[in-house]
Amino acid sequence: MILSVKNLSIEIDGKPAVRGLTFYVAAGEVLGVVGESGCGKSMVNMALMGLLPDGVNASAEQMEACSVDLLRAGPRDWRALRGGKMAMIFQNPMSALNPCLTVERQLKESVLQARTGMSRASARAEALRLLDRVGIAHAGARLKSYPHELSGGMAQRIMIAMAVASAPQLMIADEPTTALDVTVQAQILQLLEEIRRDTGMALILVSHDIGVIEQCAHRVQVMYSGQIVESGDVGEVIASPCHPYTRGLVAAQPGRSGLPPKSRLTTIDGSVIPITEEVEGCRFRLRCSRTDHRCEQPQRMRRAAANSYRESRCHW
Ligand SMILES: Nc1ncnc2c1ncn2[C@@H]1O[C@H](COP(=O)(O)OP(=O)(O)OP(=O)(O)O)[C@@H](O)[C@H]1O
Ligand code: SF4
Ligand SMILES: [Mg+2]
Repeated sequence: MILSVKNLSIEIDGKPAVRGLTFYVAAGEVLGVVGESGCGKSMVNMALMGLLPDGVNASAEQMEACSVDLLRAGPRDWRALRGGKMAMIFQNPMSALNPCLTVERQLKESVLQARTGMSRASARAEALRLLDRVGIAHAGARLKSYPHELSGGMAQRIMIAMAVASAPQLMIADEPTTALDVTVQAQILQLLEEIRRDTGMALILVSHDIGVIEQCAHRVQVMYSGQIVESGDVGEVIASPCHPYTRGLVAAQPGRSGLPPKSRLTTIDGSVIPITEEVEGCRFRLRCSRTDHRCEQPQRMRRAAANSYRESRCHW
């Protein structure tokens, strides 16, 4: 496994927020993570990258990535992992790039961090190769650009070039296309898929759009208010969701509700319960239409069938 996480919990100012996440990612695999805003998707990614802010703390029984024990990693291990075996790209590439530095400076920095000892001329040649790899035309001229001179799609391509400079084994793409229009979104997802196929890297793709996950991922895990509530093969989960929350997400997709064309889109009533709020029983209870007395108990992940790795956090 490239990533193995067992019982990951995250506390914000001492209050439980992310609760007992167990999941894995195999080499070359795309794991899709889906859930509404505020479910804790980014917080989990930040924990995996060792980037949680002050006041936010993670603990786990096991957290291993690229053969490194993250629970015991020191500052040197983290430096080697970030921008080395693990890389992350974010929702808004414009805010992730330094506005004061040219593309060349920033891209060369990533290349040199990954390959210490490389000459600056070779780093420039590598930067050009990377720009070409991510589909940026006139790479030589683009190296001289500042971030404000780039379109959103171009900036995300440059972020991807910086992320793949170190040939990572695991890339975490946290809502990489949310800020882009649909055409550019499709191009960026296609680019990530090509790079994954060429390099064999594994990808964690986070999105609140289950359609994007269906298109790109092998497996999916659905998050709700700090917990995984369903996981399994992406095709199976979307074709026949077990958990009422997943069912709601799927039905909210245009064309998926089974209603006639031009009907109002189905929605999930209410909003995500704040991640640090304590709830008795199932955390989805206040929004669920299938509740009975069993929902008053906390729910654990249950296998859909003995020979299946599909799991759902619901007694039904
Ligand atoms: N630095 C922080 N300090 C305190 N609370 C935080 C911090 N970052 C996030 N939170 C809380 O944790 C919740 C989950 O945040 P997170 O960013 O992981 O959600 P998300 O699922 O990635 O949402 P989105 O889809 O909007 O990116 C937030 O709603 C917020 O209440
Ligand atoms: S346990 Fe109950 S409240 Fe929770 S998702 Fe299942 S039916 Fe709904
Ligand atoms: Mg997020």
